[in-house]
Amino acid sequence: MTATLDIRPCVDADRDAVVALWSACGLVVPWNDPAADFVLALSKDNSAVLAGVLDGRVVASVMVGQDGHRGWIYYLAVDPTHQGRGFGRRMVAEAESWLAAAGMPKVQLLVRNTNERVLAFYERLGYAKPPTMLMQKWLTNPSP
Ligand SMILES: CC(C)(COP(=O)(O)OP(=O)(O)OC[C@H]1O[C@@H](n2cnc3c(N)ncnc32)[C@H](O)[C@@H]1OP(=O)(O)O)[C@@H](O)C(=O)NCCC(=O)NCCS
Repeated sequence: MTATLDIRPCVDADRDAVVALWSACGLVVPWNDPAADFVLALSKDNSAVLAGVLDGRVVASVMVGQDGHRGWIYYLAVDPTHQGRGFGRRMVAEAESWLAAAGMPKVQLLVRNTNERVLAFYERLGYAKPPTMLMQKWLTNPSP
């Protein structure tokens, strides 16, 4: 029952609804500013936020970005009251289409180690753990 979910690129006016959705889905952490992440994604040609809209309300989102080599998915979220209806699968498919259209041969994403239960969802959609390890370093002071 996913036919009525309309998926479209976000505009500036979607910011508060999308940030509220991310909060409701447990995706907001103290060291990231979700509103700034949203604004930054809309300000660049190589990234976007897609919204899943149902009856005029944003109930799903996914952020996409590409670095010239790989595509990335961030902030995949389905409103808890609408989970289990295929909307997550559809949002990922739209994200993959966006990245494929941008010429990206591969898509990847990070899963927090506090959110391991989502791994089964991604595996269902054909994702697998790569034989690599991530290293990182802050170039700015994480806030707060
Ligand atoms: C992860 C999330 C986006 C899934 O959205 P959803 O709309 O509930 O997922 P769907 O209904 O599209 O499920 C797609 C498939 O995955 C399966 N699936 C969904 N959640 C699953 C889980 N926790 N374990 C195993 N399978 C799962 C479904 O059974 C379905 O299988 P099918 O299409 O083959 O029948 C949603 O649970 C969510 O927003 N979670 C909180 C935010 C989050 O963790 N985001 C990811 C950050 S990395």
